[in-house]
Amino acid sequence: MILVTGATGNIGSALLKELHACGAGPLRGLTRDAARASFPEGVEVSEGDFADMASLEPALEGVRSLFLVSRMGSDADILDAARQADVAHVVLMSSITVQTHPHLGPARENMAVERLLKDSGMAWTVLRPTQFASNALWWAASIREHQTVRVPYADTGLPTIHPADIAAVARVALTEPGHQGQTYSLTGPERVTARQQVKVIAAALGREVPFAEISREEAHQHMSIFLGAEAADAVLDVTGGDVNDELLTVRDTVSRVTGSPARPFHQWVSENVSAFR
Ligand SMILES: NC(=O)c1ccc[n+]([C@@H]2O[C@H](COP(=O)([O-])OP(=O)(O)OC[C@H]3O[C@@H](n4cnc5c(N)ncnc54)[C@H](OP(=O)(O)O)[C@@H]3O)[C@@H](O)[C@H]2O)c1
Repeated sequence: MILVTGATGNIGSALLKELHACGAGPLRGLTRDAARASFPEGVEVSEGDFADMASLEPALEGVRSLFLVSRMGSDADILDAARQADVAHVVLMSSITVQTHPHLGPARENMAVERLLKDSGMAWTVLRPTQFASNALWWAASIREHQTVRVPYADTGLPTIHPADIAAVARVALTEPGHQGQTYSLTGPERVTARQQVKVIAAALGREVPFAEISREEAHQHMSIFLGAEAADAVLDVTGGDVNDELLTVRDTVSRVTGSPARPFHQWVSENVSAFR
């Protein structure tokens, strides 16, 4: 049994589709609300909340391989419960910021979870993706409402990754030999700036999308409302305020692990253009 946590999210939902399509299984997806989840046919739905460890017991029963989206509960308790349930292998969603910005709070937290997993006695694979292409959905409401997209660091190009490529790497790590004990830094195939991303979305929509670069201060004021001040600073650093060569590097890990080239940003847009209409 493979348990996918975050199964309704960007990566988890794509991973369940990947696993289902390649005939892996049996499969189970974790969600806090089974009524809202729509998983591929034959995938078992398990209702559970990381904040309620008792609810995870049935979810972990019989599981040999676990895809874990971290930092949504007590990862120490979750890994402990997985070990007690005889889970053999955990594929962990971490972040490239562990190596690019180890001083930032979220990166320190991810590093701590990676350490917990490596010390757990279970086999492990760590995925460290860079910024997701799906982060462009942050602009979807403005674009739908024909408002100006207002972005800081408009011309900083980052090797944005398609969520399906992270899912593809996770699927291979969960189902094929040779990936235990590996840490995979994952990027897309090219660097793309926010200005270029909005142009790609505009081209897919077939209309102009007004765009303006704003200051870090203005962006911080807005983002703090949703993320809190510290997390807003961390996001601003890693999206342009404090980038470094390690973050900007395009890597071939996706194609090495999956055998298929990493998908470009315009592909994600063509698959998700309805979100911007
Ligand atoms: N966005 C980026 O650029 C980026 C870059 C690097 C790493 N990451 C990492 O990627 C991860 C996010 O992945 P994602 O984008 O696939 O997630 P997402 O789309 O934000 O979805 C979050 C998922 O977590 C589940 N969830 C939330 N709280 C939960 C709880 N208390 N108990 C059980 N499940 C819970 C949700 O399920 P239900 O609502 O159905 O319960 C949902 O499936 C984070 O760990 C983040 O640090 C993101």
